[in-house]
This record gives sequence, C-alpha cells and structure tokens, in this order.
Amino acid sequence: MKHIYLTLALACASVPAFAATESLKSPDGRIEIRFSNDGEYPVYEVSVDGGQLIAPSRLGLDAAGWNYAVKGELSTTRNSHNETWHQPWGENKTCVDNYNEMAVTLPDGQLTLRFRAYNDGVALRYELNASADTLVITDEQTHFRFATDGESWAIPASFETYELEYRHLPIREVTDANTPFTFRTNEGVFGSIHEAALYDYPEMVIRRDSVTGDLKSDLAPLPDGVKAYVPGRFTTPWRSIQIGHSAVDLINSALILNLNEPSKIADTSWIRPQKYVGIWWGMHLGTQTWTMGPRHGATTENAVKYIDFAVANNLQGVLFEGWNEGWENWGGNQHFDYMKAYDDFDIDFIAGYARDRGIELWMHDETGGNIPEFEAVLDSAFAYYASLGVHTVKTGYAGGFKGGYFHHSQYGVRHYQKVVETAAKYNIMIDAHEPIKETGIRRTWPNMMTREGARGMEWNAWSEGNSADYLCTLPYVRLLSGPMDYTPGIFDINYERAKADPGRIEWNGPNGHCRIKTTLARQIANWVIIYSPLQMAADQIENYEGQEAFKFFRDFNADCDWSEALQGEIGKYIVVARRAGDRFFVGAGTNSEARAIELPLSFLNPGVEYMAEIYADVEAAPEKIAIERRKVTATDSLTIRMASAGGQAISFIPVEL
Ligand code: NOJ
Ligand code: CA
Repeated sequence: MKHIYLTLALACASVPAFAATESLKSPDGRIEIRFSNDGEYPVYEVSVDGGQLIAPSRLGLDAAGWNYAVKGELSTTRNSHNETWHQPWGENKTCVDNYNEMAVTLPDGQLTLRFRAYNDGVALRYELNASADTLVITDEQTHFRFATDGESWAIPASFETYELEYRHLPIREVTDANTPFTFRTNEGVFGSIHEAALYDYPEMVIRRDSVTGDLKSDLAPLPDGVKAYVPGRFTTPWRSIQIGHSAVDLINSALILNLNEPSKIADTSWIRPQKYVGIWWGMHLGTQTWTMGPRHGATTENAVKYIDFAVANNLQGVLFEGWNEGWENWGGNQHFDYMKAYDDFDIDFIAGYARDRGIELWMHDETGGNIPEFEAVLDSAFAYYASLGVHTVKTGYAGGFKGGYFHHSQYGVRHYQKVVETAAKYNIMIDAHEPIKETGIRRTWPNMMTREGARGMEWNAWSEGNSADYLCTLPYVRLLSGPMDYTPGIFDINYERAKADPGRIEWNGPNGHCRIKTTLARQIANWVIIYSPLQMAADQIENYEGQEAFKFFRDFNADCDWSEALQGEIGKYIVVARRAGDRFFVGAGTNSEARAIELPLSFLNPGVEYMAEIYADVEAAPEKIAIERRKVTATDSLTIRMASAGGQAISFIPVEL
C-alpha cells in the first residue's frame, strides 16, 4: 500500500504548471471548468465553490497515425441554454436543461473539446474532424485527478458484467471502477463520474494510470485490441461528473438525460409504463423450468392464470420466460428459436386472450450471447410479435458473446442499439437484461424502457444474495444512470413454497433457497425506491393471493409524474417520494441498522386530505407486516420506523369528499 501512496505522491509532483486559457462557469457560478492548451496535452480542471475538485488533468484521444496540434491559437465558441422539456415517461415528466457551453477547437482544427457546466455537474466530449475516413482509436486520455481524497462507491471495472458487489473505498485506493463512480470528497462535495449518450463506441471504465497515478478512462476493446473504429468525423459520448451538496442531490439531478438528444420517436402514444407479473421466479428457485416438461412454467394453463391475475389486480403486463424453443441449448451452443413457441404454449390463443382483456403480452428473447443468430431474425421476430399485438420484449444475454466480443465493447453497444431501433419500428418497448449500461438514451429512444445492469433479485435465488447495505448503495450508484428492472417484491421471503416442494431442481447451488435478505415491508418499498417504468411484482402469483399487503401494488402506478429523493446517506438509508396522477407513494429503506426518520409531508398537494396507508416493519419478524391507515395533509409529519434491513412503504390517496 505504501508503494501506491509513494507512486501517487511522485505523480502529483510532476503535474505540469497550469495556465488556464479558457474558463466556463455554471449558470449559478458555483462550478467552474478551466482549460489549458499551453503544455504538451489539453488539460482541464474543475472547481466547486472555489475549491479544486479535479486538479489539472489530461484530455485527448489516441488514434493510430493521427496527430493533432495542441499549442497555439484556439478557436472558441460559447453558448448558453435554458429550456424546460417534457418526456412521455420518467421519474419526472418535466425537466429543466440549463447550462453554459464552451467548444474549444485546437489550432489545426482536427479536435474540438466541448464542455458544459450545469448547476448539477459538468461534462465534456470529443468532436473529431480528421481527414481520414476511419480512425482506429487505441486509447482515450480523459483523466480524473482528484484534488483531495474522500470516499467512493462503485463496482469493479468489467467489460462483461455489471452484476457485481459494490466496493466502498477511499478514492486514493481505487484501482479500477465502472461508472457511475460515486464519491464524497473530504470537503463534502458529492459527485459521480459517468458517461452520457453512448453510441457506436465502447463503454468507459476508469482505471488507475500507472504513469500519472490519475484515474483515467479505459475503453472496452474489440478482440483485435483496438478500442473502436470510428469515422474521421465523429462525436464521442459525454464524460460527465454529477456534482451535489448532499447525497440525494445526485439522485434528483437530470444531468444524464439533459446530455442526450430529444426523442427521435415522433408518436410515443404506444409507449406506456406498466406494472407486470411473470412466469419467472419459479425457474430461479428451481420449482419450474424454462424447458418443456412436467415442470414447464410457460404453459397455456399458467398463462391464463397469470393474465386473469393481472386483470384482477390492476396490472398491465404479463411476461412468460421459456415460451420459445431452444432452452435446452442454453449454456451450450446457445441456439434459440425466436418465433416458435413450445407445443404446450398456445401462443395464438394466449395473445388473443390477453388482447381481449386489455393485458400486454410480453415476449422474452434470451440469446445466450449468440448475437449473429438473433440479429439475423430480429426484424422478422419483432414483426411477428407486433402481429400478435405485443408491445414489450425482454431481452437477455446470459452467456459470452460469440466471436470473443465483450458485452460492453463497440460491437456490443452497436448491437444493443440495433435492437432498440428495430423495436421502435414495430412499436415495441425494450427491457434488456445483461445490457449495456444506461447513459440516458431513453430520452432519445423512449422505447428503451428499463434494463438490468446490476445484481437484481435473481441473485437471491442462487447466491449469498443482495444485502440491505447493497440495496442502500444501489440508488446512489447504478440508479443514477437510469431505470432498473430489479424485479422487486418477493413476498415469500423465506421461500416456504419452494422448500415445501420435494421435487424442486437444486440447480441453485448450496447458497440458494436461503431467504431474501430484507423485511417484507422493504420488498414493498423497493417498488418505489428502485424506479422502473416497467415495474414487476416478481413473486409467483400464489404468494400474493390473499395477502393484504399486495394492495400497495394494486394501488401503485408505474406511470410516474414527479419524484424526489427526500433524505438519505450512501449505503445507509434512502427515502423517495413519487407522484403519479393525484396519488403519492413513499418508499424508505435502511441498511443493517434499525432507524427512525421524521418525514414532513410537505411534498403532498396543499389543502388536500389523503388516506395514508402505511406498510411497516414488525420488529424481529421480517416476514410480517403492520398495515395502518391514517388521514393526513401536507402540514403533517410521519415517523418512519424501520427494523434492521427493513423499510416502509406509504401510499397517499386523496380522500373522496
Ligand atoms: C438472466 C436474467 O437476468 C433473468 O431475468 C432471466 O430469467 C435469465 N437470465 C434467463 O433469461
Ligand atoms: Ca441477469
């Protein structure tokens, strides 16, 4: 460890003198970016309230045989923007986009660095203007030299998966991390490094650079070691740093969306948030199978039961995994048929049954990573689903990509985008599992509804599970990038039904079949905390039948209008409020520590009386829930008491006069 500190200290000593040539301030003047091209490389620096956050750090792109001039006269343009815009769905349907911008073109005109300063962060990107038709990108030199130390929360850098545990480390000890990379400096500045508008380019992770000691961008390579092949005129994704004065400021920021372009889909009337159930959890617990056989989950009989359940419980969608042929090959040669249902799943009848009852039938396309086969039938498969009246497809990439491509490489990014754009042609919404990370493209492609991209519920079925500490970190890291299909809401938290089934398949290993690591109330609160426009009640429907607490999900509305993270500390607790129509919902969760929080209800509409239905923990009985009803108004406060690994959910429904 001493060795690392020594290296860092030496590296810091070799920082070139910084003579800023350009400066840009946020609209409120609190954040400043300064730029210099006085030395060998372009260099930037970021300060907040006059204190340095990012010390002078190198910028640039390396491409084979490409040189651009750095020193000399810059050509700089400036611009300011202040706009209120609306989206068809989102945590907040109305967003404000207010920034100052500076585009600095280096002397020979081949590279422009575009900077934006917002009140809630900064961003920069590279605009290439080389004469070559194609540039072979070999490295990116975006450095983040933190001026001071602090704490950080992130998953390790991996070009294959985001389904990893968080590391909570001093910034100086971070060797590598994926983004969002969330931090709190010793000066009390909260922030998160991420990227926005990732198209036709590999993902960026950050890695400690052995030469400078900085955290530096590292791009997922292609199998030949090249990072990306791009046209001579090309714009990279934004490199962003969200900045806040409290932890919840980061959640309440729309920076990532603001850095994306407006919708390219003109008519978005077919894009609708949904609550859904599905044939899913039984396979993970081993009581059902994806393959056809005596325990097959996706049968016509089960489909009818699930559709009837959706109708009776104010849900809009039903997912059936294991509906199509090919699951026998999963983990082997990864060959699925995306158009042929298993014989015991009468797809025409089921599609008609769902349509007649106003329920959205979801298709599921697991690829196992066989991209060439999936892309070959993509258009015809989506056309077929559209002909059945389907508007929602869940995709999956559980398996290595054929050809040795990383999931997060330029090849992967292109594939995920192709699926989104093909789906849009057929009025289909996408829920991607094992996806590329969200970088705000949902603004431009609002049919890209939700995705996994973190350890979801499934990890509770076949690993040591997701701890309450993990769930209190998720909102401040992964969820800053956008919605997540976590698949919350397991009611049988001790897996009693699965344990009572002697024939269940023990594919889960010794750690499976233990229990969900939170209380039941927290499972309900997660429907509010973990934002997703497609929100699942993930348990088998038998476990909801006769459960009074399921009323919360019946009352819940996934079509949110407004949201605010009200209180919280990273890794410790979180309280979120959302409004959908005239109803409000609150979700609160704590880590392994029991906690009581005072919650002023000032977010409610003034002058309206609400019936608050409170779903609370029962001390020392995680599987139990206490439900209380109370009339409240915006001038009241509630005390939220949470048990260890617990939470609380509250619905506020206006009292009819
Ligand atoms: C992993 C996905 O996250 C999960 O939701 C799905 O059930 C399996 N893959 C099978 O596709
Ligand atoms: Ca997964």
